[in-house]
Amino acid sequence: MDIFETIRQRRCIRSYTKANVTEKEIQTLLEAAIRAPSACNRQTWRFVIVRKPATIGVFYRAASYSTQHQAFIQKAPVVIVVCADLRPYKRTPYRERGESLFVLQDTAAAIENLLLAACALDLRACWVGLVDEEIIKRTLNVPRGIRPVAIIPIGHTKSKAKPTKRKPLEDVVYREGF
Ligand SMILES: Cc1cc2nc3c(=O)[nH]c(=O)nc-3n(C[C@H](O)[C@H](O)[C@H](O)COP(=O)(O)O)c2cc1C
Repeated sequence: MDIFETIRQRRCIRSYTKANVTEKEIQTLLEAAIRAPSACNRQTWRFVIVRKPATIGVFYRAASYSTQHQAFIQKAPVVIVVCADLRPYKRTPYRERGESLFVLQDTAAAIENLLLAACALDLRACWVGLVDEEIIKRTLNVPRGIRPVAIIPIGHTKSKAKPTKRKPLEDVVYREGF
């Protein structure tokens, strides 16, 4: 698929059939994710592949807030948990910027690559950031210094989704300053 067409067609999809996502497909998604740029090429992204329904059930609970129940997570055959490794910045003079900004930008770039690759493979996925980090850490034995950033349920769907609306460029673009 043409890159611009893939970008246009990518959607966060929140319903999945029971169809499996193969290990080869997961491999292709991860290869795309790690081609993202990262600060100082430190590649601070870490990925945890989860297929166990019981663990995915915990993710669903971790992503359920008072009014926000993200039940679709439970239906995904696989979830990729994207984490940021803060440790490489510990002994740098720009530790604060590295830990609070660069690692999140690294992981966000990797997530977008992964979502575009999923779209190109005709898979469906959703970026889920509204999760209780502590539950994810406990469930996956996440080491100190590594921060879960998002969970990405991935699957197939039958439903067709139109591109979501965007603000017009003139509302978000400034020239030569604000
Ligand atoms: C940082 C971030 C966090 C997000 N968290 C969630 C989430 O917790 N649950 C969810 O259903 N979608 C989540 N999304 C997806 C957005 O809702 C979605 O990208 C947006 O509505 C635009 O729709 P589209 O991606 O289909 O174009 C998140 C997206 C981003 C970038």
